[in-house]
Amino acid sequence: MRLPHGISADHVWIYFITRVCCFPRTLPCVHCDIFVSLYTLHTSKQWQLQAMKRRSSPMAAAVPILILSAMAIVSAAAANVEHTFLVSQVNMTHLCKEMLVTVVNGQLPGPTIEVTEGDSVTIHVINRSPYNITIHWHGVLQLLNCWNDGVPMITQRPIQPNHNFTYQFDVAGQVGTLWWHAHDAFLRATVHGALVIWPRDGTGSYPFPKPHMEVPIIIGEWWEKDLAQLDRNFSKGYLDEFSSGSTINGKLGDLFNCSGVLEDGYVLDVEPGKTYLLRLINAALFSEYFLKIAGHKFMVVASDANYVNPYTTDVIVIAPGETVDAIVIADAAPGRYYMVALPIQAPPPDLQTPEYTTRGMVEYSSVNTSRRDDVPAVAPEMPNQHDTIKSFYFHGNLSSLRQEQRAQVPVRADEHLFITLGLGSICRRNGQSCKRGGNLESMLVANMNNISFHLPAAMTTPFLQAHYYGCAPAGTGTRELADRPPRAFNYTDGALITFGPEEMLLEPTSRATVVRRFRHGTAVDVVFQGTAMLQGDSNPMHLHGHDMFVLAQGLGNYDAARDSARYNLVNPPRKNTVLVPSLGWAAVRFVADNPGTWLIHCHYEFHLSMGMAAVFIVEDGPTVDTSLPPPPRYFLEASTSVSSSSSSGGQQLFNSVSAHCTTPTNNTDPSKAAHSG
Ligand code: C2O
Repeated sequence: MRLPHGISADHVWIYFITRVCCFPRTLPCVHCDIFVSLYTLHTSKQWQLQAMKRRSSPMAAAVPILILSAMAIVSAAAANVEHTFLVSQVNMTHLCKEMLVTVVNGQLPGPTIEVTEGDSVTIHVINRSPYNITIHWHGVLQLLNCWNDGVPMITQRPIQPNHNFTYQFDVAGQVGTLWWHAHDAFLRATVHGALVIWPRDGTGSYPFPKPHMEVPIIIGEWWEKDLAQLDRNFSKGYLDEFSSGSTINGKLGDLFNCSGVLEDGYVLDVEPGKTYLLRLINAALFSEYFLKIAGHKFMVVASDANYVNPYTTDVIVIAPGETVDAIVIADAAPGRYYMVALPIQAPPPDLQTPEYTTRGMVEYSSVNTSRRDDVPAVAPEMPNQHDTIKSFYFHGNLSSLRQEQRAQVPVRADEHLFITLGLGSICRRNGQSCKRGGNLESMLVANMNNISFHLPAAMTTPFLQAHYYGCAPAGTGTRELADRPPRAFNYTDGALITFGPEEMLLEPTSRATVVRRFRHGTAVDVVFQGTAMLQGDSNPMHLHGHDMFVLAQGLGNYDAARDSARYNLVNPPRKNTVLVPSLGWAAVRFVADNPGTWLIHCHYEFHLSMGMAAVFIVEDGPTVDTSLPPPPRYFLEASTSVSSSSSSGGQQLFNSVSAHCTTPTNNTDPSKAAHSG
């Protein structure tokens, strides 16, 4: 059979499986799963060969990545990369305990999505887990495609158990490593994977030595907890629950054992003299990590899918939500070298929580296999876990590699926000006054400018949909994020870390659906000021739908006169997640040019579920090309019917407003959406 250009037999098969077999459920679930698995096994060999040929590079690199991502559908003429994500619960045993774990396609980490810049991606999510989920494509710009951003009740209704949903997006103007994760509850601890973007002109166009091999290295945590329950606990201010271990690519490593039997660790086999590109992702919920490999140095070449000026270091520091691409050359004496990931925590008087080091191994192929265990493994000397300054310097050393085709940083900003980040409390009984300072009448929350983000429980229309169709604002609790906190204080005063009279004065926080509206094209400056309010944590702040230029960072309190003078307007790093240093600040500039409703939040999961978040609403621009298109047709049907996704693809406008609003208004012109502030 002759297939049209760009369509391979793979496409036809996967189309058959996902559309004909799995989605309308013409076969019982179990048959669908088996079918998908068999097909995957059968073809994974061919994909490896094809991918290696296609990239015509010594991409032995593709092999481990493709093994990781056995579900990848890559065709030789790839313009569309298609995957099926089967979300289900599987049993996994670690530390002597069997746990039911929610994962994608039975894997932890989940499948790697591999694309070439310019490709489009289609992901069919089949939710066989007992939880509501959405998948967020972390860092993908989603230009004019906010509908596919995957944030529950902000951009879509969550995908209910036994429902399906199809995501479609393009990957354009980005090269390097991003990732995907569940955006519901704490589920992203186990529902996550890498998203690798190769340059359009092939790996020969890398602005650094071409690697012999590329490997995703995902740092995570192992939780012996019901993650959905954990989210409920944290959002109610019950905070004393922790993971049981840290992981590299899902493995705990030999610092952990079950009755003396060591846990498996991740092993990277290297050949002497060859070059490796590590695509590091911090998928952990709670901590920044130091990463070192004994006897080796890293050359950092990209972060958050943006090239950086190559920077050599023996330690990488990576916060939740960030990615770092680093070159490692296997130039040490052939042997075995530990790769160690150590969580960072702010020093006392910050509350000290259990944190676990994990390690894997870099093994030279020339070490004789039969003697392998006799060869002593070399361990790196790790920094102190409280050495937050190392993180400050690591991030301060990033600068972007100038690329002519990329938009440069605007020389000035139109709006200036100063946003404090910290903890506070609200009264457990609404509308009453209460005792603070750790009294149980109040509950701890996290906030931005003293407002803790909260979606109304009764909300039935996702925020973006309400915005687009001009529905009346959901509930009454929407408030505009102010330009600055309600009062100025010595933000980084160490005395505020523990309960006390001064701290208690600043503690009262309000709760609302916090939004900030921007006219299309506005250049926005945000200074994130970390505070000492009940903790001295850093804050990895992640903005959806936009990259931010990181202009400067500093320790202590931001001083506009002094600090704005040293903004880097030449080559600031471009990030989707900016690390606001512990007891310090970071200044970013971004252009609000992507219409939609975008979450901005701390990527520490406890901070997010405690309310350190807001929605940035970017209005439509003057033209069709600068306006958010209507939702894809399948969108509004999603989660109402099991076979909802089979009708995907059509970008059709649903004309009736009343169909889209819980509380319809007379405003039928989407361009004049009701101001929800
Ligand atoms: Cu990686 Cu809103 O998240």
